[in-house]
Parts: sequence; C-alpha cells; structure tokens
Amino acid sequence: MTSRFDDLQELVLKEARKDYSETAIDLFMNPRNHGPMEGADGFGKVTGPCGDTMSMWIRVRDGVIAKASFTTDGCGTSIASASMMTVMATGRTLEDASRIEQNDVLSALGGLPTESEHCARLASLTMKAAVRDYSSSRE
Ligand code: FES
Repeated sequence: MTSRFDDLQELVLKEARKDYSETAIDLFMNPRNHGPMEGADGFGKVTGPCGDTMSMWIRVRDGVIAKASFTTDGCGTSIASASMMTVMATGRTLEDASRIEQNDVLSALGGLPTESEHCARLASLTMKAAVRDYSSSRE
C-alpha cells in the first residue's frame, strides 16, 4: 500500500523527469561526495552570478585526486552538478580534473534545462579553484 507521501513523491518525480535525466535526479536526491572534508589538501569556494556559493575539497595522492567532496547553498541542479563534478574528478590527475568544463558536466548529467546550465559552470569553476589552491600551497 502506498502512502500519500509516496504518491506525492512519485508526482514530483514525474514532473522532474520532463526536464531532468535520471542521472541528474539521482544525484540531486542521493548526492555523492556531499559534505566538508577533514584534512583536505585543496579547497575552492566560488559564488556564481546567481548568488549561490559552492565549495569543494580535494585530497591529492601522487598528483591524482583521491577524494573530492562539495557543499552548496544552491538549487537542486547545483547539487547534481557539484556531485557529478566530484565523481568525474576522482581518480584523475590535477591537470585533467581542472580541464573538466561546463559542457563535460552537462554531458555527464544528460543535459540540464537552459536556465540551469550555469550550475554546471559553477561546479567546473569551483573544482578549478580547489586545484589552484592545492597547487599554490605547494609552490
Ligand atoms: Fe545558482 Fe543553480 S541557480 S547554482
């Protein structure tokens, strides 16, 4: 037997599926790598033109991002974008991770509505900031 909450959730998901891929919805509802990281090697924090702020932490081992995490005070799409970015960056070299652009995040998310595409750019900029922070701390 389904509860009214389940019915409501199904209705909301049905609406969301009109604009978002299953991947984007899944990352919004079950974000991977969410939360601050203790003892991170690099940290980036960027506020986008929309006014939302995203933070990312990276742990680096032998030039490779071993772990990445994020927080954001932004919309659901920014959660999905940041989460995807941390997933994509993990296991990559710092150089490769800083080359992940807005369009790469958008492709991995199966696209976003035009008005939300900037959320993927914010995720890309925040990862670049975290990599820069790590690199400048080693100079
Ligand atoms: Fe600002 Fe999504 S609307 S990051």
